[in-house]
Amino acid sequence: MAKQYWIGDVRSGVHDGEEVELKGWVHRTRGGGKKIQFVVLRDSTGIVQCVVKKDVVGDSCFDDVANALIESSMIVRGRVESTDREHGHELQVESAEVVGPVNPDRPFPITESAMTEADGGETEFLLDNRHLYLRTSRMTTMLKLRSTVFGAIHSYFRDRDFIEYQAPNFVAGAVEGGSTLFEVPYFGRKAYLTQSWQLYAEAAMPALERLYTMAPSFRAEKSRTRRHLTEFWHAEMEIAWASNEEVMEHGEGVVRHIARKMLDERSEELSELGRDLEVIAGFADSPYPRMRYDEAVDALQSKGVEIEWGQDLDYSKEKILTDDFEVPHFLTHYPRIAKPFYHRPDPEDPKYVLCHDLLAPEGYGEIIGGGERTWSEDEILERIDEEGTPREPYEFYIDIRRYGGVPHGGFGLGVDRVCTWLAGADHIREAIPFPRDSRRVTP
Ligand code: 4AD
Ligand code: MG
Repeated sequence: MAKQYWIGDVRSGVHDGEEVELKGWVHRTRGGGKKIQFVVLRDSTGIVQCVVKKDVVGDSCFDDVANALIESSMIVRGRVESTDREHGHELQVESAEVVGPVNPDRPFPITESAMTEADGGETEFLLDNRHLYLRTSRMTTMLKLRSTVFGAIHSYFRDRDFIEYQAPNFVAGAVEGGSTLFEVPYFGRKAYLTQSWQLYAEAAMPALERLYTMAPSFRAEKSRTRRHLTEFWHAEMEIAWASNEEVMEHGEGVVRHIARKMLDERSEELSELGRDLEVIAGFADSPYPRMRYDEAVDALQSKGVEIEWGQDLDYSKEKILTDDFEVPHFLTHYPRIAKPFYHRPDPEDPKYVLCHDLLAPEGYGEIIGGGERTWSEDEILERIDEEGTPREPYEFYIDIRRYGGVPHGGFGLGVDRVCTWLAGADHIREAIPFPRDSRRVTP
């Protein structure tokens, strides 16, 4: 195979003085002169200025380059020179070839000015052109951060002997309550898109004991908010013989590990997005405090927030609570009435369940939900009945308790939310390539 050269390496100076071949897309053109023109070429690793001179490349090549519009693809060959100019290193082009031109009747619609007018990527225009918007430097950076987050989650669990395990996405019942279930026609019956891997993971818990996954989960969230998608990436784990406290240690562990990997692999990208690396280091190194639900309610009431005991905390309340947190905080012991049937009532006070949410600081709010599971047959039947849920779709789930039930627990982490928070982004749709919400399934 021909040697692959990367623009990022050219920019760091490792190819100074060498002949290289670069493959990429036209990011910008400048100069359009009669004898010399400048093309800024982009690949997945960065941008570099290419100097094209007519007397070097010849008339027809010079014209091809002059006519190449933004986002035309190109292969250029030449010598790398270090310069005093802004970019530091540039390519003196000896030959160039336009591979995929752009139709002049349909110029690339995403320009820097379009992005500014569109107010940082939040308008329908940019969402309609999302497939093209992916090429912008901000989105490319986001996608790289996202890849690091996925890699870090895999390495955290695999390094600790967790087995990756897959559950079905078509299911017969809710995990997180009926109001956000997506119903799909299923050969004359009704099926649902799963809200969580958890119930089927619990079935494998007696086989594998430590398991995890990363998969899409689905929620029919009607309202569009900064932190809800209808299809989101869910990292979940389940562990046998574990208490709420032990599950929380893994939640804290994986989030710290992600923050550490971000610093190791993506410092430059984080800085590009305006993230203070010291702040990220705090997420990697400082302990995450624990707080009971009741304490959070008191804290909110003392800030003048109207909240009734027994309500789950919605985004507006989590935002107020976490605005001045510097690191993630665990909230534990929610009221039993605020949480689904699978949560285990606290034997010391069954008004509460042994559960936790991990709330990201800086106003971001919930990134993890988890806890101990109800694990005896009597208790699970009581919880299902008190919710008024039919038992039938859960027979398999009750069987897990009938045949050698053991204490166990787990959590789910919203991967897109973690990416949003660590990137310091305003909206969850900035952190996923094709965001899905109640109004959009295209492109
Ligand atoms: O708190 P949730 O609903 O918990 C569960 O689904 C459990 N069954 C997980 C488990 O114990 N295995 O969801 C877990 C996390 C939330 O903390 C949040 O980060 C994310 O999933 N999440 C969403 N992310 C984006 N868009 C949505 N609509 C989300 N709903 C939940
Ligand atoms: Mg939750």
